[in-house]
Order: sequence, then structure tokens, then C-alpha cells
Amino acid sequence: MATDTELFKQARDAASVAYVPYSHFPVGAALVAKNGLVFQGCNIENASFGLTNCAERTAIFKAVSSGVRDFERIGIYGETDTPISPCGACRQVLSEFCSAEMPVYLFSKSGDVKVTTVGELLPYQFKDLS
Ligand code: THU
Repeated sequence: MATDTELFKQARDAASVAYVPYSHFPVGAALVAKNGLVFQGCNIENASFGLTNCAERTAIFKAVSSGVRDFERIGIYGETDTPISPCGACRQVLSEFCSAEMPVYLFSKSGDVKVTTVGELLPYQFKDLS
């Protein structure tokens, strides 16, 4: 899984199974691990809105709960004209498991891409308790 086009497709496919009866706003994420595996995630909403899990966190939690913690990059897809950007909670979770230098690809529905990094999205992140 190397190309940016493939990353876009995997993130877009992930959005196709989003559970979004409240917002009708599907989001998909494709998290590429250093071992080559790709973990897809979608947003999963809840009637108690605050319990919604975003696509990015779904992907991270799937990977970590599968025993994988080393990541190379992530693609995030929104059905929007311009690329969407992860919420604050997802930025914090990404920063727990990914290096500040890890690339983050933000895709719109047409495939427009903005490339940023975990560190750019969340500078001065809270890292640990010590
Ligand atoms: N959402 C994501 O899944 N990821 C983002 O980066 C932004 C927001 C979801 C949460 C909710 O299901 C819907 O998009 C609208 O906020």
C-alpha cells in the first residue's frame, strides 16, 4: 500500500460504512502501519451524541487493539469540497501513538489533498503523566 491514490481510496471506502444517522456526515480514515497493514475506521454515532467515535479514533483503536502501535501515515476522507481536519480529541489520540513528524493526508471528496503532520495539528501535545 504505497501510493497516495491508494490511501485516498482506502479512506474513502472506510467512509462508506460510517454509521451517521444524526449528522449524515460520513468520514473515513486509513491508518497505515509500519508492518504494511492498513486499519480503516469510520465515524460511529450515538443517540447520545457525545458518545460518537470519530473515524480517526476508530482506526487507531482497531490497530492498537490488534496489537499494532507503529504507524507510518494516515489518510482522512470527508465528503466535502475541501479537506476536513481532525477534531481536538482525535488530535490528542493521534499524538499518543504517532510521532509528531508522521504525515497526515486530508482528502476532500474530489481527492484534493492537504498534507500536514501530527505535530502541526497538535503542537505542545500533552504526552504523559511524569
Ligand atoms: N468526524 C469524524 O469522524 N472525524 C473528523 O475529523 C471530524 C468529525 C465525525 C464526527 C461526527 O460523526 C460527524 O463527523 C460530524 O461531526
